[in-house]
Amino acid sequence: MSPLLQKGILIVFEGIDGSGKSTQLRLLAETLEQQAYPVVTTREPTDGPFGRKLRALFSQRDAMTPEMELELFLDDRRDHVERLLAPALAQGKIVLCDRYFLSTVAYQGAAGSDPQAILALNDFAPRPDLALIFCASPQTGTHRITSGRGEELNDFEQEDNLSRVAALFDSLDLPYIKRIQADGTITEIQKQVLAAVQDLLSCQFSGERS
Ligand code: TYD
Repeated sequence: MSPLLQKGILIVFEGIDGSGKSTQLRLLAETLEQQAYPVVTTREPTDGPFGRKLRALFSQRDAMTPEMELELFLDDRRDHVERLLAPALAQGKIVLCDRYFLSTVAYQGAAGSDPQAILALNDFAPRPDLALIFCASPQTGTHRITSGRGEELNDFEQEDNLSRVAALFDSLDLPYIKRIQADGTITEIQKQVLAAVQDLLSCQFSGERS
């Protein structure tokens, strides 16, 4: 029996690189699917044309001006909203999105754009019902990337950049934000995520389908 959704729900996963949000998104998707909720998972940058262009530039960030970079993230998001997010929400799905506009506020804010102006430029994008911000230290983040995944740090992931990004994530104060303490183990983090999502779902569902 699947719970009846009154409307779609948008849950976004935010935080610095290596904060563990992608792992937690997968775990939450599995849990919700086991409970027969209609789940859609997605991410930004997307796999569309603008997102592919952005990913290609991750290791040569200085090939673009900060203004061009911001514009490309916004183009990618407009495409994402039109193609996937708005239709899925209209169909009553629970959409789990790995990064959304708070990443633009924090990362492009750290690159010099005004955070409030970036927020205003994202007015076209549906507001999340819940934004989970994974709070981990930049040292934890870079350690998980280099030791855990065995990867080299790209231009976004350098520790001084991540410190600026983390400070901007910390400064955000919006009603839909819930902070997750993300320096601990996967299980400890998962408990916090489930508690936050259960709170949201208990307010959103009207009953059971028969
Ligand atoms: P990430 O989720 O780390 O993708 P992957 O796991 O495939 O590497 O996102 C890639 C980078 O994009 C990350 O360092 C943050 C950056 N980013 C921005 O700078 N602004 C944005 O608006 C978004 C969505 C991401």
